[in-house]
Parts: sequence; structure tokens; C-alpha cells
Amino acid sequence: MISVNSKALLALAEEARLASYSPYSGITVGAALLTATGKVYRGANIENASYTPTVCAERVAFFKAITDGERDFIAIAIAGGENGKPSKEDFPPCGVCRQVMTEFCKADFRVIWGNGDKITDKTLGELLPFSFDKNNL
Ligand code: THU
Repeated sequence: MISVNSKALLALAEEARLASYSPYSGITVGAALLTATGKVYRGANIENASYTPTVCAERVAFFKAITDGERDFIAIAIAGGENGKPSKEDFPPCGVCRQVMTEFCKADFRVIWGNGDKITDKTLGELLPFSFDKNNL
């Protein structure tokens, strides 16, 4: 079983944040997704002039990994905040991203956010209890 270094994973999310395309909100978000084989997939938020096609950093990281054939995930770190400023302590994933995580991860999947001063480390089960998934179909 692979161990998770929250600080190191957050540092990779912070690096991924630099690739954010967010001219409309000015909020830059980076994500670093750790697979069971120890690979890390990065994502950043990508906005659109039509607003609703905007995709969050977490989903970009997941979709890159999924299309690479990855199916086994351990943790994701998220770093977000205003452009040009350090990431905020409180930048939990949105509900849509939690639902996407639920499609591919078990309840013990770890979701980490924050910065060097304060790190929050939760399980997906804590963030989305009573979730709707394939077992409900
Ligand atoms: N955003 C993310 O990338 N991840 C989240 O979990 C929440 C929001 C992005 C979407 C949009 O580009 C900006 O942050 C403001 O909502």
C-alpha cells in the first residue's frame, strides 16, 4: 500500500495551479491525483467565455488519468485561491467533483487541501456521505 505525503502532494497541486486558465473568475486551482502505482496526474481549472463549460482542476486530473487507463486512486490534493496569491487554507472540492470522485474511488480515498500552514485531510466518505453511485442503479 502506497503512503501519502500530504505536503508533497499539495506542493505538486500548487505547481499544477500555474497552468490554470481562469480569465473570468481569477481563481486559479491546481490538483494532484495520486494513483495506486505511485503516479501523479495534475490538473488545473479551465474556464470558458460561455461559463458553464468550465471544468474544475480535480476533474481535469481525473479525466487525464482515466483516459490513460488508470482506475485505482489513493488521494488528491487541491490548491486554490486568487490569481497571484498563495493558495487558501479552505478550498474544498465542489459537489460535482465529489460526485466524479465517487464514480472512481472508494470511501477511504483521501481528499487533501490547504497550504503549508494548515492542511485539511478528509476521506471521500466524509465529504459525500449517502452518495449516489453504480450500486443505486
Ligand atoms: N474550481 C475548481 O477548479 N475546483 C473546485 O473544486 C471548485 C472551483 C474552479 C472553477 C472555476 O474556474 C473557479 O474555480 C471558480 O469557481
